[in-house]
Amino acid sequence: MKKVSIFNIKGGVAKTTSTANLGACLSQQGKKVLLVDLDPQSNLTKLFKAYSMDDLSVSDVLLNKDLDIHNVIKKTDFENIDIIPSNVALAFTEKKILLDVNRSQQNRLSKALKAIKDEYEYCLIDCPPSLNMITVNALCASDEVFVPIKIDKFALDGLEYLLDSIEEIKEEFNPNLNFKGCFITMDSATTVNRIIKQELKKLLGDKIFNTTIKQNVKVIESTFDECPVVFSNKKARASINYKDLCKEVF
Ligand SMILES: Nc1ncnc2c1ncn2[C@@H]1O[C@H](COP(=O)(O)OP(=O)(O)O)[C@@H](O)[C@H]1O
Ligand SMILES: [Mg+2]
Repeated sequence: MKKVSIFNIKGGVAKTTSTANLGACLSQQGKKVLLVDLDPQSNLTKLFKAYSMDDLSVSDVLLNKDLDIHNVIKKTDFENIDIIPSNVALAFTEKKILLDVNRSQQNRLSKALKAIKDEYEYCLIDCPPSLNMITVNALCASDEVFVPIKIDKFALDGLEYLLDSIEEIKEEFNPNLNFKGCFITMDSATTVNRIIKQELKKLLGDKIFNTTIKQNVKVIESTFDECPVVFSNKKARASINYKDLCKEVF
């Protein structure tokens, strides 16, 4: 099972959209995919109609080492895609992890996923927009990190800090971790976009993927249908972009 974190410290850059649609593309190739929602906002969980306050969730995976992870995994409406859901309880989980000093704190997700490593080909982890103990768990559990970037005035701010943080986690906890690269989301043919893309190429070299995901209203419409755009509208610009990105990165 290849484990990939979709990570950026910023919100609204299409982490969740990219996790869902890359997962959708892989599933269409017949790959078995496990999605992990690590954001207390639970948008990924809601997109796959798996939200519940009563069922076990990713918080339980992080807090209870004796839990059988199979009891947390939910099937989705789509063949080959299962999900470890999140709910609002995750907002309180970090504090509980930090207070529990009897167990190591960084590698809890990593340990939990070992039990199912032969059951899926890909595990895609949707991270919250911050660098906290929850994200550290995601990065400690991952083989690769992808960073979606939305171009705006502040797109480059904090990027070096983010890349340094990934390096630190690699050095301290997970030598296996590979920063695969960044990709641009909500791309448009404006002058600003062209200029910032050039800046990003200078800064990142070969760590920026060629494929960009175009701004496309079909993506927003798909969220109202509770369905990744790759499934609901195969011909949408963004669906084609996600297919190309999937080919490029996997
Ligand atoms: N290619 C796109 N075109 C238009 N809107 C998009 C695109 N990708 C994402 N969005 C929208 O942008 C918003 C933020 O995306 P989301 O995936 O939730 O970001 P994050 O998980 O990083 O916070 C959502 O409303 C989503 O529907
Ligand atoms: Mg999100």
